[in-house]
Amino acid sequence: MYTQKCIQCQEEYPPEKIVYTCPKCGGLLEIVYDWSGLSINKKDFNAIPLSVWKYKALLPVKREPISINEGGTPLYLCDRLSEKIGINKLYVKHEGLNPTGSFKDRGMTVGVSIAMELGMKTVACASTGNTSASLAIYGAKADIPVVVMLPAGKVAMGKVAQAIMHGAKVLSVRGNFDKALKLVRELCDDEGFYLLNSVNPYRLEGQKTIAFEIADQMGWEVPDRLVLPVGNAGNISAIYKGFKELYNLGLTDRIPKMTGIQAQGSCPVVNAFKQTQKDIIAIPDPETIATAIRIGDPVNAVKALRAIYESGGVSESVSDDEIVTAQKQLARIEGIGVEPASASSIAGLKKLIQTGLITQDETVVCVTTGHLLKDPEEVLSICEDAIEIDATAESVRRAVFQ
Ligand code: F0G
Repeated sequence: MYTQKCIQCQEEYPPEKIVYTCPKCGGLLEIVYDWSGLSINKKDFNAIPLSVWKYKALLPVKREPISINEGGTPLYLCDRLSEKIGINKLYVKHEGLNPTGSFKDRGMTVGVSIAMELGMKTVACASTGNTSASLAIYGAKADIPVVVMLPAGKVAMGKVAQAIMHGAKVLSVRGNFDKALKLVRELCDDEGFYLLNSVNPYRLEGQKTIAFEIADQMGWEVPDRLVLPVGNAGNISAIYKGFKELYNLGLTDRIPKMTGIQAQGSCPVVNAFKQTQKDIIAIPDPETIATAIRIGDPVNAVKALRAIYESGGVSESVSDDEIVTAQKQLARIEGIGVEPASASSIAGLKKLIQTGLITQDETVVCVTTGHLLKDPEEVLSICEDAIEIDATAESVRRAVFQ
């Protein structure tokens, strides 16, 4: 049993009502459950392989889900990197190893399953890339048409390739992500398409399983802190909700400090946090190398700021140079290949250790949200070129030892 509840005015709406924000006050919605009849025990999870659907009892989907084996991503202990940056224990939860290469699959397996339960005929989203790639693939699997809107010229190549290959109708909007999101919301309202951006509270239910998996993988101990990139601000809100639910169910004994990182040219949540505001002032022309989080008016900002304040976390911004340095370090010291937005979590952790806001004795989990191969053009622009040589042993030797 569950409802969709406004986080602002507390009004509740039935599960089958198609609403994305509160019709009464405009507030964001979240799914709230009546779990009074639910008896759940850590032992219930023993010996079941990790995946989003391992936690079906804590999710809203009733039907057989539209699934391509999402979740179950590794939690790497990063000894060498933690020593280098000066932290007791650093884990990386590599969400880039989901089926489409990002954490969005957790949200889409739930979101598209709900769309089918509700009998929707078309699904749609605006995206900086990963959401569109994921929706295209889950739409294909569910046999439902997909419309996606991307900011023209600002989406990494791998993500566009996925969206077009899997058969979505891809619209390249002359404008940034925030404008594309406004347009797709209007389209969904006018045409009855189902909106699967992270303003949709069902999608965030899938993403809260990142918290469930981290707790599960750590033997139901939770880390002191979670560090992750913030764009449209859905994921940090979802993961916080997941940790809160585990705590309220008595499965864990505390909630980690939620720590949100943004790029310097695109950091409305950080600005609000630093001025202890509950909501953001939008940035009209966001810019960063981390195109996935190039968002000036994040729709879930109020939820994200609540997550940060309530958990005792912080929010910090990092420069593009710091992002690139962290991306290379993670790749070359730990063998973890991530796209720039994901590396911002490591860059943010380093900065917060240097400024003393994170102390050395903490156990930290950084969430790396997307795979390196999503943005090969960025990689080629920041790394050494391959060395072209003649096909002779002499040339090989000269190149190897130069
Ligand atoms: N990391 C990556 C790789 C992303 O693609 C995104 C968001 C984020 C972090 C931020 O997550 O929006 O929940 O705060 N990408 C969206 C998209 C906006 O359209 O693919 P968030």
